[in-house]
Amino acid sequence: MEQGNLIKTKAYVNGQWVGAASRKTFEVINPATGEVLAAVPDMNREDVRKAIDAADAAWAGYRDLTAKERSAILRNWFNLMLEHKEELARIMTMESGKVMAESLGEVNYGASFIEWFAEEAKRAYGDVIPPHTKDRRLVVIKQSVGVAAAITPWNFPLAMITRKVAPALAAGSPVIIKPPSETPLTALAISELAQNAGFPPGVYNTVTSTESSEIGKELCENPKVRKLSFTGSTPVGKILMSQCASTLKKLSLELGGNAPFIVFDDADIDEAVKGALVSKYRHNGQTCVCVNRILVQDQVYDEFVEKFTHAVQGLKTGNVLNTDVQVGPLINEKGLKKVKEHIRDAVAKGAKVTTGGDIIEGLFFQPTVLADATRDMIIAREEVFGPVAPIFRFSTEEEAIQMANDTEYGLASYFYSKDVNRCWRVAEALEYGMVGINEGLISTEVAPFGGIKESGFGREGSKYGMDYFMEIKYMCFGGITK
Ligand code: SIN
Repeated sequence: MEQGNLIKTKAYVNGQWVGAASRKTFEVINPATGEVLAAVPDMNREDVRKAIDAADAAWAGYRDLTAKERSAILRNWFNLMLEHKEELARIMTMESGKVMAESLGEVNYGASFIEWFAEEAKRAYGDVIPPHTKDRRLVVIKQSVGVAAAITPWNFPLAMITRKVAPALAAGSPVIIKPPSETPLTALAISELAQNAGFPPGVYNTVTSTESSEIGKELCENPKVRKLSFTGSTPVGKILMSQCASTLKKLSLELGGNAPFIVFDDADIDEAVKGALVSKYRHNGQTCVCVNRILVQDQVYDEFVEKFTHAVQGLKTGNVLNTDVQVGPLINEKGLKKVKEHIRDAVAKGAKVTTGGDIIEGLFFQPTVLADATRDMIIAREEVFGPVAPIFRFSTEEEAIQMANDTEYGLASYFYSKDVNRCWRVAEALEYGMVGINEGLISTEVAPFGGIKESGFGREGSKYGMDYFMEIKYMCFGGITK
């Protein structure tokens, strides 16, 4: 396939490129420049219902393919994605403001879920259970759950789609993807690659819309959709969960976080600075697993603040299409307003800005460090989702654990220490789905990604990921004679 053909301005339903029945469209904006990139269909509930019907009709044929056949299509899709890596990354950078180096990384990361589940497809083993009577034989098989819907966020325009749909497609489930209105172009570009990879019509569908709540309602309430996987905010996750109650739909929710990053006095401070930098400023602080609170022990507090501030001052901003640029824009005005509000509140309550604190231009904001942060500040409780790092102080291990767990969220957490006993103690005590120990970047397709408490439930990636798109069926064979 030729390069340069991946900008699509139609939605992809039942193997066709289609507009909204109403003919309405909406514009996709480049957050780095404010320029309009394209206009795509603004679909409504009725359009989505058609996609669900197509997916449901395709289910029987698709689930009857052998696992090896489904695996081969996934593998084609994976190869096509890598072949078009530069073009996909460019589209992603232009519509999301993610810097080019990170967009290139996201294509690899997103594709890795497809490769992983192409392999897992062939290993969806069941069980043979020793029977409880002589004349019976007990077997367990795993089967596709049915049509699966994925509602995905703008911060990972590609990887949050593949992390959800690759296990669904591997399991034999057709998919309907509702990408966010900020980043539909990456979603449509990979739909084109999915079409070329050979998914049968109706198996892979992407619907674009600004009517997120109406579309969400249809995906939750339509009985033909058997599974919904959502990544986004906790308040929206709660609405979706209540809407799914009417059909008792299976649900995976990957929601907000408030990640602590603890630096103990026995840590390698230089390594801790590197870990905090990569975790805090990944996609300009706009990921659910970005550090939100840095907690540093008294004895090393001043040293950490000084070294971390220095490292943050070295981050490079500029044209996001250049591969050496590390800091891009925030996604929109709402994101920018939140960052400013968190800084204003923290400073009013005694925080000291050691670097940054101001707008650069447009949606670009300076990477910012706040020393002397305290627990009464908004930033201690709410995810800032931007380039602001507040640094709190603690005295004892017990206090650090208590501070880290003092939140309704439980997605990612991190800490640095060289004491192996402390590493086990603290890792076990942190109430989080994921813990990075002497490591600031923990996401990979081979490990389970997900949270506890109000960060949601379900796990994505890893050997566990496919189970969320399959049903377990127990079969009891009676009357067996010898
Ligand atoms: C997210 O922010 O939702 C995903 C982050 C990741 O996969 O590392």
